[in-house]
Amino acid sequence: MPREIITIQCGQCGNQVGCRFWELALQEHAAFNPSGVFYFSMSSLFRNMDTRFKPPRELPVSDGISKIKDLEARAVLVDMEEGVVNQLLKGPLSNLFKSRQCITGISGSGNNWAHGHDVYGPQYGEAILEKIQSEAEKCESLQSFNILHSLGGGTGSGLGSYIMEALHDNYSGVLRISVPVFPSKDDDVVTSPYNSMLAVKSLVDHADCVLPIENEALCEILDKMEVRKLRSPTLYVPKPSKGKKHPSGKGFDAMNEIVANLLLHLTSSVRFDGSLNVDLNELTTNLVPFPKLHFLMSSMSPALHGPSHENAAQLPTVNQLFTDVILHKNQLVKGNPLACTYLASAFLFRGSQSNVSDLSANICHLRQRMKMVHWNPEGFKIGHCFRPPLHAPQALLCLANNTCIRAGIHSNA
Ligand code: GTP
Ligand code: MG
Repeated sequence: MPREIITIQCGQCGNQVGCRFWELALQEHAAFNPSGVFYFSMSSLFRNMDTRFKPPRELPVSDGISKIKDLEARAVLVDMEEGVVNQLLKGPLSNLFKSRQCITGISGSGNNWAHGHDVYGPQYGEAILEKIQSEAEKCESLQSFNILHSLGGGTGSGLGSYIMEALHDNYSGVLRISVPVFPSKDDDVVTSPYNSMLAVKSLVDHADCVLPIENEALCEILDKMEVRKLRSPTLYVPKPSKGKKHPSGKGFDAMNEIVANLLLHLTSSVRFDGSLNVDLNELTTNLVPFPKLHFLMSSMSPALHGPSHENAAQLPTVNQLFTDVILHKNQLVKGNPLACTYLASAFLFRGSQSNVSDLSANICHLRQRMKMVHWNPEGFKIGHCFRPPLHAPQALLCLANNTCIRAGIHSNA
């Protein structure tokens, strides 16, 4: 039985991150299904609209994003400005979303949490819930709502909080995972610290698991990759986009690609086979020892997987991936987990060249460097998905419940 995930994209940032995620998810599936077969496991994220066949379905669907007319994303798109969603509906992913999955307003929330939460919440809340209900009815065994939003503006933070509260009231048995983008210090939205603080309160009370992303951390990762590219010209770094930019000058597209990769890793074991499949419920159970301590640090090695990597001799080994992934420079929230205490951790590996005993050996090695809390010395979870990401033979995602998140959230909210 598929364990479906419904993605809710809220506000400009949420929809832009979501757009990148769907694009890469389709490319991943297309790369592994050159024959264009709809694998049953894809149904955790996608619906196949060709009703002539019954599951287990094996339908020709795509060799890229050009032939996706039969696929629909399990998603609800919300923004109080029309621009981004309209662009999405006109772009290459247009067939993936139907207008009945989208809700847009006429003017945004003006970077004001209260406007998003107190005005648009009551005004659009019922309609949003109806759309979510309609998506949920098309699932056999709904596992999770993944909510993508930023906390700096008004819609993602305010209306995002409202949606989170409504999901808590109406779907208490379904996981609520939030992926919020925190503003950086040089953010041009003057109200962003207030919006973030108000939204964090709602995430503490109503989310089951939060994977915070910090824009400043994304910019630093991209900076370092650009420096490395000077030495290894074939290393993939997304090209600066023409679209909207972060105040640092980095294009949002490149920053969003890192977040999209996090989501791809996170969902990989519900989409592909592996020797140790860890679904989202299992992850949350292992990583959240107390219900309100559910803000996790995430880090990836490598952070991006684009075409034409460094040459084979320079590709990181499994040991190198494990060593790198816990370093502060690879965290998606600025902080140094190695200097603080781990309450629990999970390592999700993608690639077929390693086996569970290799992974366990690496964890044994890491234990000497990670300070575990005394009541959970064995707090290491391992996941192993056979399918590597696009254009890289292997990759590793680390999720950690670590006390350094406190400083990260405080400095942003
Ligand atoms: P309103 O426009 O006020 O209705 O709310 P909104 O939710 O649409 O606001 P938006 O998502 O634009 O939030 C602004 C914050 O998000 C700022 O901190 C921006 O730097 C950041 N941001 C906006 N778009 C993106 C994006 O595509 N990627 C990333 N990483 N950050 C973004
Ligand atoms: Mg907006």
